[in-house]
Amino acid sequence: MNKILVTGALGQIGSELVMKLRELYGSDNVVATDIRKPDCKVVNSGPFELLDVTDMKTFSKIAKKYTVDTVMHLASLLSANAENNPLLAWNINMGGLINALEVARELDAQFFTPSSIGAFGPNTPKDFTPQDTLQRPTTMYGVNKVSGELLCDYYYKKFGLDTRGVRFPGLISYVTPPGGGTTDYAVEVYYEAIKKQAYTSYIKKGTYMDMMYMPDAINAIIQLMEADASKLVHRNAFNITAMSIEPEQIAQEIKKHIPNFKLNYKVDPDRQSIADSWPNAIDASAAQQEWGFKAKYDLASMTKDMLEKLSKNQVHKVS
Ligand code: SER
Repeated sequence: MNKILVTGALGQIGSELVMKLRELYGSDNVVATDIRKPDCKVVNSGPFELLDVTDMKTFSKIAKKYTVDTVMHLASLLSANAENNPLLAWNINMGGLINALEVARELDAQFFTPSSIGAFGPNTPKDFTPQDTLQRPTTMYGVNKVSGELLCDYYYKKFGLDTRGVRFPGLISYVTPPGGGTTDYAVEVYYEAIKKQAYTSYIKKGTYMDMMYMPDAINAIIQLMEADASKLVHRNAFNITAMSIEPEQIAQEIKKHIPNFKLNYKVDPDRQSIADSWPNAIDASAAQQEWGFKAKYDLASMTKDMLEKLSKNQVHKVS
């Protein structure tokens, strides 16, 4: 990885990944792209280009202008948004991905794109979900993610393109909020805990899903991209996770820091049914064996850090 292009650079993952990559590989060597250009750190700390990933011509032009050798394709619609607008999701998620793969092929660039626990469906084994298993998702997002996994495998097999990827669980961060995902409750709960000492969850008590703190997710991407190719059996869509949790457990952990925190419920049937179709806990042993994946943060250390960072941000906002 010498010259890296990132799409969706202002999104939940991109905004932290770009800053970390710039720190490690040099600011000028990380080209951030997104469909909007606000005045922010990612835009101002290195090369930035406006890019709609469905516009193949501009995509290819930018990649060639910087002669990139790595494409990290993050631009996509999350699960709940995709369910509300399936055609748009197909066009952005699949149209963007095929363009990104073609651009990478033109430049023989290394390629990363995330899949998700959303690539599993209701008849996938729910606990200790294996790396290789039944994948018949019932959401448009899931259909996109499975197709994406297959497409990346295909580009590797057919064209020898160095494609790599992980199946991310719900990602939790204090930097950029997610938008339109099913696991967003696990982020919102921390923001509201600081602001109001209370949160109303749209996900039902007892609904287990895999989650991970963003620093672990960023490290996983970089570690996988730097991994010895000869050791990778799976390449695309490695299961990775840091914890399998449900709303009550987060509340218990928050209460250790904010004793009067109160968790209420007002279940959203649409997002609940997406959550119910996903695994409770996935098995990440292939990622561990093939490239040494290991998450540092568990629920306790993540909660402590999230609350510390968010209260600091609040203080900054007020002062
Ligand atoms: N966090 C994502 C979502 O909820 C899952 O990949 O859509």
